[in-house]
Amino acid sequence: MTTQRVMAIVGAGHVGGRAAQTLRETGWRGGIALIGTERHLPYERPSLSKGLLTGERAAAQCGLREPEAWREDDIEHVVATVQSFDPAARTLHLGDGRTIEYEALLLATGGHVRRLSIPGASEPGVQCLRTLDDAAAIGERLTPRSHIVVVGGGFIGLEVTASARALGCEVTVVEGGPRLMGRAVPAAIAASAQDLHARNGVTIRLNTAPRSFERRDDGTLAVRLEAGEVLNADSVIVGIGIEPADELARVAGLEVERGIVVDEALQTSARGVYAAGDVAVFPSRFGAHRIRQETWHNAETQARVAARNMLGARDAYRELPWFWSDQYDHQLQVAGEPMLGSRSIVRTLDSGAQIHFDQDGEGRLVGASGFGLASALAREMRLARMLVERGAPIGGAQLANPEVKLKSLL
Ligand code: APR
Repeated sequence: MTTQRVMAIVGAGHVGGRAAQTLRETGWRGGIALIGTERHLPYERPSLSKGLLTGERAAAQCGLREPEAWREDDIEHVVATVQSFDPAARTLHLGDGRTIEYEALLLATGGHVRRLSIPGASEPGVQCLRTLDDAAAIGERLTPRSHIVVVGGGFIGLEVTASARALGCEVTVVEGGPRLMGRAVPAAIAASAQDLHARNGVTIRLNTAPRSFERRDDGTLAVRLEAGEVLNADSVIVGIGIEPADELARVAGLEVERGIVVDEALQTSARGVYAAGDVAVFPSRFGAHRIRQETWHNAETQARVAARNMLGARDAYRELPWFWSDQYDHQLQVAGEPMLGSRSIVRTLDSGAQIHFDQDGEGRLVGASGFGLASALAREMRLARMLVERGAPIGGAQLANPEVKLKSLL
């Protein structure tokens, strides 16, 4: 008897779930094995640091689809660890001893949350935020007037900070770098965000990192910083980034480069093996270099392209990078690759919101980053994204002048 090969997806997060759904929608009638270590069905992460903590959202509302939809689509959610795979034999080996024969494989393994390796880092009350279970555990600790130390002034750290302030906690942010959100946000925007947090009563310590956590007799934690200061905390939340989970690919002999290298069709260096989402290192639309994106938009759009290509299409992934972060009533959005710019043009809107446009040496728009009241920013950033998408050279004076409608520049 021959067993029919299945479409296998390693990683049952946003990418894995959306890819499984797309395989069905595109007409695949065979088996789909969606394999992940978490017991939860695929869910979206944006609420984990926001609504889920403040109680505005329930865990059930984070699901990528209604639970019945996975059953109706006959998608098998396998809760297991994948030990290895063999790209030549097209087999996957699970930790429980099972072997799965696949037709095509998608690696949607995402990232491992980075942990601190300092004394006291595993004390109860020192927590990371990556999963639904992490968010539930953190939510329980954000009680009014409790003292929270947030380690890492990136997206997770700052969104958790805003949520904790909304719940009445006292918050200190400890950021190792010279400014907030150094990884992916232009400096001017990060400075505006820093002001916003200060106005909301948050204490921010830059250029220093925790050296140790010590449990005091009264149950609180003493957070000793490299700079010498000691902070008092009821809880510590660590958001110091993720590491791409590329180890399965590396062991299988695929090309990796701090993430799994894929071509424009999102295929890895092994035929029939694709990668998408936080773990994928893919060709930039702006040049010969490669990028990796840890964003909702990237997960959502790469999942669909990868799934279609697993079924034999050869679609190129050409989406413009884009992400947002909600903090208090403000929003930050970044589109394109602002870091490629050599010239920045600022447009200040009536609401006080700002959009920074970045042009490269040839005057081509490569990025737009906005910050302001969420309600004021949405429409203008939609147009700004379209402008970057077109990549046409536009005069700086027009971009800077709020009297000139962005729509008229399209
Ligand atoms: N002490 C203090 N700060 C540190 C330390 C340390 N030991 N190590 C790193 N940092 C800081 C970095 O300088 C950076 O500003 O932590 C911040 C981490 O920011 P991000 O890389 O944005 O990571 P994080 O906020 O954890 O988000 C992880 O979740 O929502 C997604 O897009 C987000 O994919 C990203 C992921």
